[in-house]
Amino acid sequence: MTPLDGTHDRTGARSPLEPAAADFRDDAMAGLRSTPKRLSPKYFYDTEGSQLFDAICELPEYYVTRTELSILEAEAGAIASRLAAGGPCRVVEPGAGSGTKTRLLLRALGPERCVDYVPVDIAGEHLERTAVELRAELPWLRVTPFAADFSLELPLPGDRARARTVVYFPGSTIGNFDPADAERLLGRFREAAGPDGLVLLGVDLKKDPAELHAAYNDARGVTARFNKNVLRRMNVELGTDFDLDAFHHYAFYAPAHGRIEMHLVSVRRQEVRLGGEVFTFEDGESICTERSYKYDLATAERLGRSAGLALVDSWRDAERRFAVLLFRAPAPA
Ligand code: AVJ
Repeated sequence: MTPLDGTHDRTGARSPLEPAAADFRDDAMAGLRSTPKRLSPKYFYDTEGSQLFDAICELPEYYVTRTELSILEAEAGAIASRLAAGGPCRVVEPGAGSGTKTRLLLRALGPERCVDYVPVDIAGEHLERTAVELRAELPWLRVTPFAADFSLELPLPGDRARARTVVYFPGSTIGNFDPADAERLLGRFREAAGPDGLVLLGVDLKKDPAELHAAYNDARGVTARFNKNVLRRMNVELGTDFDLDAFHHYAFYAPAHGRIEMHLVSVRRQEVRLGGEVFTFEDGESICTERSYKYDLATAERLGRSAGLALVDSWRDAERRFAVLLFRAPAPA
């Protein structure tokens, strides 16, 4: 277990290599105190959770990752040309997974059109590993990691005149943010991109609810395990006593909100202890562990506009399951 003192002082400064255990505890307690109970999906991704998410991406029902990848495979050249139309750019990636999609994009840009890659991640260790791997694979690439929680803080371009900044946010991660938060986050991306900067965004599109439902209720139960893993993680890291068999995975599409909701439903009345507090679950009461908003082009464009960004281009797969959207920040006044 991570000690709670020393890793997080009251000024908010934290060693980039220390996991933010105090934040997890504070967030979990606040989430369990609220009605209805909730947890942030950002806590899914410990080592086990990240492996389970990788397994989800391989599932036949989960079209999201493979569809976005297929768009990049087909369009990376076109996208790169748009990104570097005004000269070489720097790519800033909040929550950098630095997976296949990012490498496709960086490779399409190449040494002439990409001066710097700035992965931003809360886990400093993960960030360093990413940087080492990328430098080995793309030796020409300058990698400048930045350890931060991107929902709170992003690097600002030091010398904006030198290269245009592109904030790359793939994976439909924007879908995890409620509309007001998504707008705020895109506004922060606009600031990080600077005047005339770009934001390249992956969004999952609205589609047949049955198809959406299947993607979050896979036959092999991997998504259920992914969902429940957050309880296991709380037991390990926060000392809770969740009975994993007493919660069921429940995910559904809510058309009125245009979102998937993932829940863990208590199968009986029970109590769970955390940080000296007792939290009661009624029979059938749930914790909402994730919301995953689905967009159409018009709604995504409006979201961008409300954050001060103009949609300048978009790429979709033939089935229109997923979209890669390019937004531009206003030119300097
Ligand atoms: C990583 C947020 C895009 O919402 O589809 C997959 C996570 N949750 N299955 C999504 C997830 C359940 C995923 N995102």
